Amino acid sequence: HSKYKSFQPLRKSDRRWPDQVIDKAPLWCSVDLRDGNQALIEPMTAAQKSRLWDQLVKVGFKEIEVGFPSASSHDYEFVRELIENDRIPEDVTIQVLVQARKELIEKTFEALKGARRAVVHVYNSTSIVQREQVFGLDRQGIIDIAVNGATLVQECAARYPDTEWVFEYSPESFTGTEVDFAVEVCNAVTAVWQPTPEQPVIINLPATVEMSTPNVYADQIEWFCDHVDNRESLLISLHTHNDRGCAVAAAELGVMAGADRVEGTLMGNGERTGNMDVVTMAMNLYSQGVDPRLDLANMDEIIQTVKECTQLPVHPRHPWAGELVFTAFSGSHQDAIKKCLARRDESRAWEVAYLPIDPADIGRSYQEVIRINSQSGKGGIAYVLERDYGYDLPRWLQIDFSSAVQAYAEEQETEVGPEAIYDLFHQTYLSQ
Ligand code: KIV
Ligand code: ZN
Repeated sequence: HSKYKSFQPLRKSDRRWPDQVIDKAPLWCSVDLRDGNQALIEPMTAAQKSRLWDQLVKVGFKEIEVGFPSASSHDYEFVRELIENDRIPEDVTIQVLVQARKELIEKTFEALKGARRAVVHVYNSTSIVQREQVFGLDRQGIIDIAVNGATLVQECAARYPDTEWVFEYSPESFTGTEVDFAVEVCNAVTAVWQPTPEQPVIINLPATVEMSTPNVYADQIEWFCDHVDNRESLLISLHTHNDRGCAVAAAELGVMAGADRVEGTLMGNGERTGNMDVVTMAMNLYSQGVDPRLDLANMDEIIQTVKECTQLPVHPRHPWAGELVFTAFSGSHQDAIKKCLARRDESRAWEVAYLPIDPADIGRSYQEVIRINSQSGKGGIAYVLERDYGYDLPRWLQIDFSSAVQAYAEEQETEVGPEAIYDLFHQTYLSQ
């Protein structure tokens, strides 16, 4: 993707880590407008949804779950608006969620009338706790719900032959389900749908609640992929939540364990601690030389949209996106960055200490990288004076002046901007 100025594709010979890496981006599905929206203090207005939709399309998602139209009239209207006003680009498919219940499935297909292509995502809960304490059903009872849902989805789809239908099934609460039972339920569903490699179905394996270290989730995915029927006709999808703070790690290990697709949200909005953060996972891939197949080059615009649509802040240390993540205050870091930037050869791969990628690739500039406070050293202060005012200080003056800046910053108890540094320099050396 040419949008990333300093992108360096992964070459086997460059690898500094063991062989097991992700070397291809998964298929992405945004669930910002569904899982993300359902978790907000104030659900998005129609205008906010519409704005976020445009942003998701711009970022390059090819599958976007747009709501739960049978459960929410607002979601229903939003789906209709997208279809009737022809707002779905040719290469983008909308996805909607529905429980495995007759009246809800029928309403879902009504909402999707006229769509060129759509994913119908049907789910029921399969975990031990849900079986025993919520539904009071045994394993067979849960299989029956899933199979009835799958059958109804197939029957309804046949009533609307002008749409290209894709089916998705989630054994909700997969992480609390015995993995052999999850395989059994999914086999029962796919026995109804009869997918082929040319017309696959999506089997989505949610960490509805994250319950283990990410390697355990990955082991569950691997076991599932090894034992499920007709694997070559399935797209195995991951949908991780962040209860233990490992949703991205779980998705990454899950992809290494054999999954094809990942559902998540921008900045990780979603139920409780959130969904897996697509921005983080995509940038992780990017930083190791894998084209994420999403355009995150205008990170500030993305952040602004997410903030305004969700009414949630983005942490200043949010991986890759926070406003402080390419900033160095400490003297030794500043010094190292300054040296690397001065020696930088544009024809070579990005290699700058403390900066894992070129900030310019996501629309940030070096200007923001070096900032000055009481912990900053001579290198950073000299860098700012040179960058903004063209001053080239000799080493003895850098040392002398940095003490003045540090004393000033301690006294003011605040960061010192370039203008204040310039004024202080003039007061200290040039004012008489
Ligand atoms: O977290 C979850 O299990 C879900 C499903 C409905 C896919 O959001
Ligand atoms: Zn979810």
